[in-house]
Amino acid sequence: MFQRLEINRLLPSLALTLCMLTSLNAEQANKTHSPDLPALMQESDKLAQMLDDQTARHRLIAIDYELSEHQNPEISQLREKVLRLLAKSEDEDAIQYIRTVFETDTEHRDEAAYALSEYAIQKPSSLPIWRFLIRSLTVVEGEQAVSVLKALSRYRQRATNSRWIRRVILIGLRLPEADKPAALQLLRHWTGVRVSRFQNNSDAPVSSSDSLKFYQNWFRKKWPDELDPSWPNLPENSRWSYEVLNRKLAPLQFNKENVNRGKLVYSKANCAKCHPKGERGEKFGPDLSDISGLRQRKELLEAILFPNLELNEDYPSITLLTTSGKTYSGLMSAGKQGTVSVVGSEGKAVSIHKNEIESISPSRQSNMPAGALEPLTFQEICDLIAFLEHRANPKRPYHKQGKP
Ligand code: HEC
Repeated sequence: MFQRLEINRLLPSLALTLCMLTSLNAEQANKTHSPDLPALMQESDKLAQMLDDQTARHRLIAIDYELSEHQNPEISQLREKVLRLLAKSEDEDAIQYIRTVFETDTEHRDEAAYALSEYAIQKPSSLPIWRFLIRSLTVVEGEQAVSVLKALSRYRQRATNSRWIRRVILIGLRLPEADKPAALQLLRHWTGVRVSRFQNNSDAPVSSSDSLKFYQNWFRKKWPDELDPSWPNLPENSRWSYEVLNRKLAPLQFNKENVNRGKLVYSKANCAKCHPKGERGEKFGPDLSDISGLRQRKELLEAILFPNLELNEDYPSITLLTTSGKTYSGLMSAGKQGTVSVVGSEGKAVSIHKNEIESISPSRQSNMPAGALEPLTFQEICDLIAFLEHRANPKRPYHKQGKP
């Protein structure tokens, strides 16, 4: 009896201590203890019936916020579901929350875009959301992509520049035949160009794949100097493919050891010869210090595997001809005392005096070397990605690029 009373008396302060402990250790605890997914799943199913209720919406936001500390495919799936429920509520605060996820939680941009697209299909009027959807074109895949394409088709607003039209073609190429019409509809809306239903005097209607080919060719004629609207092919005997690496990397959460080893891979794979990252690296290519504030993991992978997928206008490739008839191709930067430096794809810089320059012409070929991952093991690729994703100061907002 006495003991029992004692415990009862102690209980409140015990609870308080435990509470303080958990908040002190919240960072570590969150990293090690996974949330109770089945329970949260059940709870969100219940909340789905009460979207009109503000408390229910706040609870959904709290669930998503709690999950944002973790990363694995099941958690992403649940977050996608929660974000879509919030979008379905059409409540202003809920939509604002999803927009914040899009801006601040780069790795979950695709799920946030999916949710926003479902909202936009109902209400295709907000221009800021249109911009988010456009920016998501580099990350959405599968059903997310279909929904984003459909939402963009509902807007009167059209994106008419080559970069985004090319992206829609690229998305369409990756979608299964049954989903390709979503890309075709948007291409028709944006370009005003229609594919005739019958071609070559044949009675068979044109397939969706053939219609996409039509837009590819149309694009090549309209913008002959732009990057080709097709996925670059990796050499046949490549050790790594995008699909395999993307699937294997997606569920992984990296730690300090990955990051530390990744530093070495970054130098070994010559990345440091062109890219600044924190303290290290030359300034020939884009600064990658905060790149994970701007790009999802799959975009990093794409950028490394397919250097010609997107060119960065701030780092134009050039071909330089000297007065003595030599040519150099690569990235250019101002060197010391009246010289110009050109760095080729192996990362070797050559200094040329201004007096020796005959001409400089732009080139539409990325200087980033292809096949950089070929000599690396899977472990080394993980470490490299971990290092790329690491930010010395994760709270620093990333300068926003890529606005249409
Ligand atoms: C010879 C110079 C060079 C080397 C070596 C190089 N890159 Fe690049 N990289 C570039 C340039 C230039 C760009 C800008 C895009 C373009 O025009 O190709 C770029 C773009 C990128 C991007 C996309 C950045 C963005 O803003 O989205 C990533 C990620 C990247 N590089 C990672 C790497 C990694 C990792 C390595 C090493 C395996 C590497 N690069 C080696 C020159 C280089």
